[in-house]
Amino acid sequence: MDVYEAIRTILAVRQYQDKPIPDDAVRRIVEAGRLTASASNKQPWHFIVVQERETLRRLGAIARSGAYTAQAPLAVVVAVEQTPFGVSDGSLAIHAMMLTAWAEGIGSNWVGFAGRLAEVNGLLGIPDQLAVLAILPFGYPATPVGRGKKNRKPLADVASRERFGHPLA
Ligand SMILES: Cc1cc2nc3c(=O)[nH]c(=O)nc-3n(C[C@H](O)[C@H](O)[C@H](O)COP(=O)(O)O)c2cc1C
Repeated sequence: MDVYEAIRTILAVRQYQDKPIPDDAVRRIVEAGRLTASASNKQPWHFIVVQERETLRRLGAIARSGAYTAQAPLAVVVAVEQTPFGVSDGSLAIHAMMLTAWAEGIGSNWVGFAGRLAEVNGLLGIPDQLAVLAILPFGYPATPVGRGKKNRKPLADVASRERFGHPLA
């Protein structure tokens, strides 16, 4: 799958098959995060691979907007330094990991913000200077996903040619 095709078709996946993700795929997902660009190449992140069922359950209990994490075979917790670029750098790494997984038929989603994510620090022993930006549950989709069927604003509403307000046709 080329990059545009992955971006065109990726959708949030919140239900997963009870099927483990092969170790080499897990490695590629985390490598995609590690290899991502960051401001001044600071790489202000840490990725924690979680595959133990009890820990996945506890993550699902903490994440109010991502209880389904409990059913996933894998989650990657992304923690970032609390510096001006931590969130933007971490977000880029998150997208790289999600797209890498998607290209292999593995769905995922961004779980964050609405939960008590600081509790994840305690659960996983993450130092206080790192803030949990997201929990990313990964798994093979439980139901066929409507690849590319996206509910998005039309291009002309979000993009202009040359000057703001001249819709890109
Ligand atoms: C920054 C960010 C935070 C998100 N937080 C959550 C979340 O906490 N729980 C959840 O189920 N989905 C979350 N999502 C997923 C979005 O709801 C989803 O990407 C959006 O509705 C588009 O879905 P689609 O790509 O399947 O069309 C988040 C997405 C982003 C980019």
